[in-house]
Amino acid sequence: TERTFVMVKPDGVQRGLVGEIVGRLEDRGLKMVGGKLMQIDRDLAEEHYGEHEDKPFFDDLVGFITSGPVMAMVWEGQDAVQQVRTMMGETDPAESAPGTIRGDFGLDLGRNVIHGSDTEPGSNEREIDLFFDEAELIHYERVDEQWLYE
Ligand code: GTP
Ligand code: MG
Repeated sequence: TERTFVMVKPDGVQRGLVGEIVGRLEDRGLKMVGGKLMQIDRDLAEEHYGEHEDKPFFDDLVGFITSGPVMAMVWEGQDAVQQVRTMMGETDPAESAPGTIRGDFGLDLGRNVIHGSDTEPGSNEREIDLFFDEAELIHYERVDEQWLYE
């Protein structure tokens, strides 16, 4: 089992998609172990997106992610990082298949509704540490776990 950092971006919160996205992750069998609505400040945004600091879109990206509340969450489950990436679709919603979150709810590269940790080893734990204290993460069993896992 594995943990991943997921965030409904400001466009997703403003469009009322938090419940829809949480529902999809729950339906899949993933377990929410942390969550908070928060306003990201510039320092946190620049740190979170540090890998993109030399890209031409960096300022727009930081401006966007700090433009309104986000729903930050930690989800746990088998192969959680890859499974969430698969459910999100491609970075560009226009290239994302219907049935994926970005493919169902987005059109524009710079307004792609959701963030999920990428599969680079350590990305997930780095992002979880950045947004959550370990004490904010809850350890519990979901009643359906024995039906989800062999
Ligand atoms: P995140 O979950 O947000 O990290 O998306 P990702 O992992 O699918 O993509 P990546 O980390 O490569 O890029 C981070 C964000 O920058 C994307 O979600 C896009 O919103 C934005 N972005 C990426 N590439 C471009 C680009 O070429 N132009 C613009 N304007 N934005 C971009
Ligand atoms: Mg990324």
